[in-house]
Amino acid sequence: MTTAKRREIDVLLSEERTFDPPPGFRDRAHVVGEQPYLTAADNREGYWESWARELHWFQPWERVLDWQPPFARWFVGGKLNAAYNCLDRHLAAGRAEKRALVWEGEPGDVRTYTYRELHAEVSRFANALKGLGVMKGDRVAIYLPMIPEAAIAMLACARIGAPHSVVFGGFSPQSLRDRIEDASTKVLITADGGYRRGGIVPLKANADAAVDGVDIVEHVVVVRRHPDGEVLGGATMGERDHWYHELVAEADAECPAEPMDSEDLLYILYTYGTTGKPKGIVHTTGGYMTQVLATTRWVFDLRDEDIYWCTADVGWVTGHSYIVYGPLADGATQLMYEGAPDWPDRGRFWTLCEKYGVTILYTAPTAIRAFMKWGAEWPAKHDLSSLRLLGTVGEPINPEAWMWYREKIGGDRCPIVDTWWQTETGAIMITPLPGAIATKPGSATLPFPGTDATILDSEGNEAESGLLAITSPWPAMLRGIYGDEERYRTTYWSKWEGAYFTGDAARRDEDGYYWISGRVDDVLNVAGHRIGTAEVESALVTHPVVAEAAVVGRQDELKGQAIAAFVSVVDGAPVSEDLVKELRDHVAKEIGAIAKPADVIFTADLPKTRSGKIMRRLLRDIAEGRALGDTTTLADPAVVEQLKKQYEGSEG
Ligand code: PRX
Repeated sequence: MTTAKRREIDVLLSEERTFDPPPGFRDRAHVVGEQPYLTAADNREGYWESWARELHWFQPWERVLDWQPPFARWFVGGKLNAAYNCLDRHLAAGRAEKRALVWEGEPGDVRTYTYRELHAEVSRFANALKGLGVMKGDRVAIYLPMIPEAAIAMLACARIGAPHSVVFGGFSPQSLRDRIEDASTKVLITADGGYRRGGIVPLKANADAAVDGVDIVEHVVVVRRHPDGEVLGGATMGERDHWYHELVAEADAECPAEPMDSEDLLYILYTYGTTGKPKGIVHTTGGYMTQVLATTRWVFDLRDEDIYWCTADVGWVTGHSYIVYGPLADGATQLMYEGAPDWPDRGRFWTLCEKYGVTILYTAPTAIRAFMKWGAEWPAKHDLSSLRLLGTVGEPINPEAWMWYREKIGGDRCPIVDTWWQTETGAIMITPLPGAIATKPGSATLPFPGTDATILDSEGNEAESGLLAITSPWPAMLRGIYGDEERYRTTYWSKWEGAYFTGDAARRDEDGYYWISGRVDDVLNVAGHRIGTAEVESALVTHPVVAEAAVVGRQDELKGQAIAAFVSVVDGAPVSEDLVKELRDHVAKEIGAIAKPADVIFTADLPKTRSGKIMRRLLRDIAEGRALGDTTTLADPAVVEQLKKQYEGSEG
């Protein structure tokens, strides 16, 4: 099917369909009407305060919100601990023997932790970290596969008040090193290796390369991934390295949770912006925990008996908010899976759903499009009747994929929650509440109660379509960019007076529903992962033959966007298919495989304006095979015609 045909189908699907919450679902849902929206609009601070009261506080707050734009403080003066709220609170509430985590490794090994067991393991590891000299306020880097120790390490840090900085296990040693240096992390927690698509990701070897010569890292803790103690990935242990299992075996299972100020740092998570190096998004404790607790319960309509599964990696914000802090604060039982969705076959997710009786599934549109391509026969082989709610996150979902998800996975009975949010927002912002809001395929519907969004034009006037803005502070909002207050102001708060700039374009329909179409800046969304064009360009120019590089995103049926790199080489360097491969591998080595360009196009010149600015819009047109727009401002219009011919030639 052609792309144009697909788009046509998408438009038809989205305009014609509205799905009311199914009666059977509605009957038992937490929220069924508009009341919470009204209550929250009436008294936003009081509404959030009532959510905050569900958490355990060592000391109550004096004021709900202190807003000195663009700096917010929520639950001012309150003291609490995130790990205490995810663990201890449930022990006291009779959930000690409830399963918290049910984990399956890619090879099929299984581990289960009750809340009591998770509490003990976290406490032991927290003591072990203390034993290595980690104190309140010290930053700790975590570079782990999707194994229970990833959640345990995060919670152990939170327990002793050491902010964590989790780095996705697919990132390169250089990316890890940059993040370690930016946050001056004293300890690094990694594993010998992790399983991915039958192979082994050599995390320890990568970590060694990352911290080689980096003296700020005093200790490296290494989890032995293999259940029988075999060492994976050729890991070797050096002087500052410690085996996790040895530290934990010696550690006490009692570790008091550090009372943290509501505004104390809980974690830093790096994400890409438009320029320069990745930015460390800062999240604090009280407001963040309040909003992840609230959204987990209402968006996923979470009940005590649910088996919840979020397929994200803990290396992304979705893993932070909707694997670790939200579901555990809500006392959920959740499934965690280590590996690839197509290993050992393309039915692995459905095997897992059936085996564990998953009731709530939260995944990414890019995964859904891959499942569509693999064919409905894979889910059809499994009994998926336990599912009662489906969710998506990370990128716009095309209505065709939405409908497929609804029919082939949800058996036409499960509501779908399309949740819009960002690393910066910390928690879900625009989403249906599944028992209360009718859904339309492709729309994230309405702001969560207690959050305010709108659409503005560049001048700050309200518009039907334009830029998505958030107009009042929300509890889980980022508190800044680590070590760079100015960048925080200019990136998010300088476009309009008093409104947060999301970087996304959106429109609002006659029902007030939001339709988010994607980024307006130079941030790409490749398979739901955020990548900066500037990062990929910087990586390319570190290759000796590259003189200049311009990177744009082009539409991709599976991944949403794919990376197209336009490269000019230094004088006299020969270009070849081998060089294409070499440059793609070079980017993977510099950043990580997720940033690998799909296309590399060599060009003698890049299209530039007379003032020397690269015309990315034209490059996007070329990469997407569109008719070229206005080229009159170009210094040399012949360059783009030449490029267009070349691009078409390279595809054909
Ligand atoms: O462009 C939006 C897109 O993902 C961006 C945020 O990426 P990141 O910080 O990596 O967080 C992803 C997980 C929360 C947004 O600016 N995005 C996320 N969710 C949606 C979305 N676009 C459309 N619809 C969504 N549901």
